[in-house]
Amino acid sequence: MAERVVLAYSGGLDTSVAVRWMIEQWGVEVVTVACDVGQGGDWDALIGRAKAAGASEAVVVDCREEFARDYCAPVLAANALYENQYPLVSALSRPLITKHLVAAARAHGADAVAHGCTGKGNDQVRFEVSTRALAPDLEVLAPVRVWGMTREDCIAYAAEHGIPITATREKLYSIDDNLWGRAIECGEMEDPWAEPPAGVWEMTVPRATEPRDLTISFDAGRPVAVDGDALAPHDLITTLNQVVGSYGWGRLDMVENRRVGIKSRETYEAPGALALITAHRDLEALTLERDLQRHKIGLEHRYAELVYDGLWFSPLKEALDAFVDSSQRFVTGDVRLRLEPGRCFVVGRRSPYSLYDYGLATYDAADSFNHADSEGFVKLWGLGIETWAAKQAQAGD
Ligand code: ARG
Repeated sequence: MAERVVLAYSGGLDTSVAVRWMIEQWGVEVVTVACDVGQGGDWDALIGRAKAAGASEAVVVDCREEFARDYCAPVLAANALYENQYPLVSALSRPLITKHLVAAARAHGADAVAHGCTGKGNDQVRFEVSTRALAPDLEVLAPVRVWGMTREDCIAYAAEHGIPITATREKLYSIDDNLWGRAIECGEMEDPWAEPPAGVWEMTVPRATEPRDLTISFDAGRPVAVDGDALAPHDLITTLNQVVGSYGWGRLDMVENRRVGIKSRETYEAPGALALITAHRDLEALTLERDLQRHKIGLEHRYAELVYDGLWFSPLKEALDAFVDSSQRFVTGDVRLRLEPGRCFVVGRRSPYSLYDYGLATYDAADSFNHADSEGFVKLWGLGIETWAAKQAQAGD
């Protein structure tokens, strides 16, 4: 059995109770690690709560830049959307948090890491598989999966042990948020027919009424500026969340397949991430050679599945990253998005490496395309079909 445990700490009810419960039940020493991935919150209060629960140390790591640069930017380059919709918000932060858990375990001489996930979700998969990839010698503990306490039991346990939590008996939603977006589950939304109540939205509350344009500049697939202002990745995503979100755009309401076999109704808001993917995809259409673009589109879903399924640290993901990186060499240029209440769409794109050739595309006098070349080409292109039509298509009727 482990002696010293590093716990991924959110500051919420479950992980706060987990600190004390592991100390009492398993006789371990607990170090908590909280990662700032842009979710906001009162870090001093969080440290106080961890200590009140019995943590010997409460570490907070500011991971915002790292998260934007090493996690959000690569999934943007891959246009990664799980089941064609979900930009991997929670799935993206788990490998980063695990990396910092492992680092803290090494720094504090711990022999185990722990998380506060239940047995029904994807996050346990991501924490555990990532830990096994990075530090196979560390044990992974999952107190919430084994303790058999209800929410009420946890609140009573916290009260008995003087752990200052703000949770109430009625927990409406399970929320997980970071720079890349926000996931809202549970409550009324467990009925897939029920519309999400207006109160669940935070990042996409409509405020703006006047349409406006927004130009996003990319350099080799990475977003670098908004309306000509160069911004660090973290600031750029924050800016887009605010501006695009104010138009009430960037919401998702979907039924998704969890790794553990459960279908789950999920709601998300990710205005910045979805606007960036919309713009980035469009710039790729302008700058990627056709076969490269088609092949990349074919791999994007697989990439998203790997991240969703907890395989961020895996050889296939690494190889796909190499492919995506190579594909981004000329994805440089600007995309102009129009924002209107409830809408965000591309109205213009340009690139120094654009493969769009006006002379080839135009139907006016500047046309430089040799029309005569098409005759033989189209004939040969259709030759196989012509042969099939003559010999087989009508046969057997
Ligand atoms: N279903 C999403 C995912 O698996 C969101 C998970 C959100 N986690 C949470 N603790 N509420 O990525």
